[in-house]
Amino acid sequence: MKNKILKVLIDQKDGYISGENLSQIFGVSRTAIWKHIQTLKKEGYQIVSVTNKGYHLKRKSSDVDQIALEQITFNSGLIKQVVYLDQVDSTNMEAKRIAQTNQFNEALIVAREQVKGKGRMGRSWFSEKDSGIWMSLLLKPSLSPDMVSKVTLVAAAAASRAIEEETGLVTGIKWPNDIVINRKKVCGILAELSAELGHIHYLVVGVGINVNQSAFEDSIADKATSIVIENHGKPVNRLNIIKKFVEIFEMYYNQFVNEGLYDSVVEYNIKKSVTIGEKVNITTHDRTRMAFAKTIDEAGNLIVTNEDGADEAIFFGEVSVRGINGYV
Ligand code: BTN
Repeated sequence: MKNKILKVLIDQKDGYISGENLSQIFGVSRTAIWKHIQTLKKEGYQIVSVTNKGYHLKRKSSDVDQIALEQITFNSGLIKQVVYLDQVDSTNMEAKRIAQTNQFNEALIVAREQVKGKGRMGRSWFSEKDSGIWMSLLLKPSLSPDMVSKVTLVAAAAASRAIEEETGLVTGIKWPNDIVINRKKVCGILAELSAELGHIHYLVVGVGINVNQSAFEDSIADKATSIVIENHGKPVNRLNIIKKFVEIFEMYYNQFVNEGLYDSVVEYNIKKSVTIGEKVNITTHDRTRMAFAKTIDEAGNLIVTNEDGADEAIFFGEVSVRGINGYV
C-alpha cells in the first residue's frame, strides 16, 4: 500500500493530491493514508501537505529510492526485483534471506543504512545513513562454484568504471576487490556463495562505496576515503553511480556467464591494478608471506613471484600492498 501511494504521488509530478482522493483510490480511511505518508517521510521522502490542496512529493532526479531504482533497472535483463530499505542489518544478509525463499529472482538490494555492514575477513563495514552506496546483487549464475571468484573481478571493474565515469576521479583496483583513490580505499566488495555438489544455489555480490563522508574515524582515517573528500566537496549523484555500476556489471557478467568471455574484465583489472609491480604481503590460511606481484592471468588469478623465485597463482586470500590500506 505504502509503495502504491508513493507511485500515485510520483505520478502527480508538480501537482498535489488530497488525502480524500487517496483514501478513495485505495479504499481506506484518511487516517490510514496519513499513517502511510508518515512512514514514507521517515524513509526520507520529502512529502509536504498543504491545506485544501493535499500531499505533494518533492523529488530530485538524483534521489535514490524504490521508484528511481526500479526506473534505472527497468531495461536490465538481469535484475528482476529491486528492494530498497531504509535500514537493514546488511544488504548481503537481506539478499540471503530473499534467496532462502527458494523461488527467488535476481535482485538488487539497496539500503540507506546498514547497522551490521559486513566487510571481508569478518570485519565490519561502516555504513551510516546516506553516507554511501550500500548495495548487493543477488545472482544465480550457471557456473561451477570455483568460477565465482571471477565475478569479484567483474564487480571490481564495474565499480571502478562507474565511479570514474560519474565523477571524473581516477581509481585503482587493489586485487581482487578494493577500489582505491589516491591509495585510500573508497569501495569494498564482499562476494558470498551458497553452493553444493558443484552447483551454485545463489551468489551475493555486496558493494560498499563511500560517497558523502567528510571524515573517517581515527581507526580507519589513514586507510579510507570517500568520493566527496576526493572531489573536494562536490556533490555526487549516487543514483547515477548505481545505474552505471549495474549496466557495466551486467555487460561484463553476461559476456562471462553466457559466452565464457573474460578477457576485457582481466584487461581492465590489469590496467587499473595498484597491486601489479609491487611487493605484497599475502595471507592465506593464517599464513603471511612476502612476494612480488607480477600480473593477473587470464583466469583472474594474481601471479606472484615468491622469495624463492618461483611463480605462483593466487586465487584467494588477503593481499596487502605496501602503502595502501595502512600497510607500511
Ligand atoms: C570489504 O572490503 O571488506 C568488503 C566490504 C563490503 C561492504 C558491502 S556494503 C553492501 C554489502 N553489505 C554488506 O554487509 N557488505 C557489503
